[in-house]
Amino acid sequence: MADKKATLHIEGQAPVDMPIMDGTIGPEVIDVRKLGTSGYFTFDPGFLATASCESQITYIDGDKGVLLHRGFPIDQLANNADYLEVCYILLNGQAPSREEYEAFKDIVTRHTMVHEQISSFFHGFRRDAHPMAVMCGVVGALAAFYHDSLDVSNDEHREIAAFRLLSKMPTLSAMCYKYSIGQPFIYPRNDLTYAENFLHMMFANPCEEYEVNPVVARAMDKIFTLHADHEQNASTSTVRLAGSSGANPFACIAAGIASLWGPAHGGANEACLRMLEEIGSLDNIDEYVEKAKDKDDPFRLMGFGHRVYKNYDPRATVMREACHEVLKELNIKDPLLDVAMELERIALSDEYFVSKKLYPNVDFYSGIILKAIGIPVSMFTVIFALSRTVGWIAHWSEMHSDPNNRIGRPRQLYTGEELREFKPLHERE
Ligand code: CMC
Repeated sequence: MADKKATLHIEGQAPVDMPIMDGTIGPEVIDVRKLGTSGYFTFDPGFLATASCESQITYIDGDKGVLLHRGFPIDQLANNADYLEVCYILLNGQAPSREEYEAFKDIVTRHTMVHEQISSFFHGFRRDAHPMAVMCGVVGALAAFYHDSLDVSNDEHREIAAFRLLSKMPTLSAMCYKYSIGQPFIYPRNDLTYAENFLHMMFANPCEEYEVNPVVARAMDKIFTLHADHEQNASTSTVRLAGSSGANPFACIAAGIASLWGPAHGGANEACLRMLEEIGSLDNIDEYVEKAKDKDDPFRLMGFGHRVYKNYDPRATVMREACHEVLKELNIKDPLLDVAMELERIALSDEYFVSKKLYPNVDFYSGIILKAIGIPVSMFTVIFALSRTVGWIAHWSEMHSDPNNRIGRPRQLYTGEELREFKPLHERE
């Protein structure tokens, strides 16, 4: 395939040959790097037709609804592995042996405590601050707490940063919640699994232990797994771009958290639940579906549609099952679930959604599970950030281990003023 090329003909110029690169699976890509030397750039706002990097971590076929991590299908991982196993796979490229898995789990488990001074840092925030605002701040602040092992070109240093982030994210996330409700922070427990420990730090208090329900812990673990990575999405691309300058790893992850916060990305699970609450009852669904279809109305059905998936989001299939399992186990009859199911039914059969291939995405169901577990809506995106941290680190580390890595520096199509003379203020009066 090495000789396959695309040729660009620009009027009045010699043709430009561009090599075509092929991956293991997925579409071939035209290597446009040489184009810059011809004085032309490609124009692709939103990166609809641009592969920003080469990667071996995650593969998505949006038309077929396929998601693979290091080659393994997401449903197999979600049903047969736990989150830390998936983290190992994302970071190391292959499934761990039992020994490797136990060693990995042991390191993560033993580094969950955060520097005690971080609790004072939390106290600088208002109690009513959005937890994502707090997360942007405290995760960025880790750069001020963990100064050693910051040589991004050193594999071992990157691994230390990875373990620190993976271990401490649940602790910091739970601290955000505890701070917002005025309860004392709960220390992690090394005898619990990753998901159980997070639930413990969220819901235990000094007067009462939290008894972890295994169905809830399993659902929590699945939520972590299903959000672990998703190729070059906005937040991952943000982490890569921030990291490409050699920036501090904790600062890069804070940048990813900031990007994730938006309602078109990780903020969708929160927006979706708020939308379901706003719709309120089955009687109002038609009105909201009409609003979503109205071109003059900015309203969109949150939890529907995806930039890459033009088929059922494979994560949504697993999440839907987990959602029903949790509601049954906790014996919850949630009217919001009735609204959600009816919305799903209508959207899947309505010509507007069918023709635009707008299927429910992962956030459509995750919010309902989180609500059933007792997690407040404002914490939903924090949990997404916690889960996605491993994906961000895997991509950040992959980028730094690539000898061809260069600082990310997109160009632009300039449509502003041409050269003009600046006159001092007194001459413009
Ligand atoms: N409700 C109603 N119409 C929609 C929706 C929606 N949720 N999503 C897309 N459309 C329409 C849109 O109006 C456009 O119509 P037209 O072609 O007539 O102008 C068409 O579908 C294509 O939409 P787009 O905005 O060009 O697509 P995009 O790839 O730029 O946006 C998206 C993808 C996820 C931002 C968008 O579908 C959306 O806003 N969905 C709701 C928010 C959401 O659930 N986000 C979570 C994504 S999954 C979690 C994650 O990975 O972060």
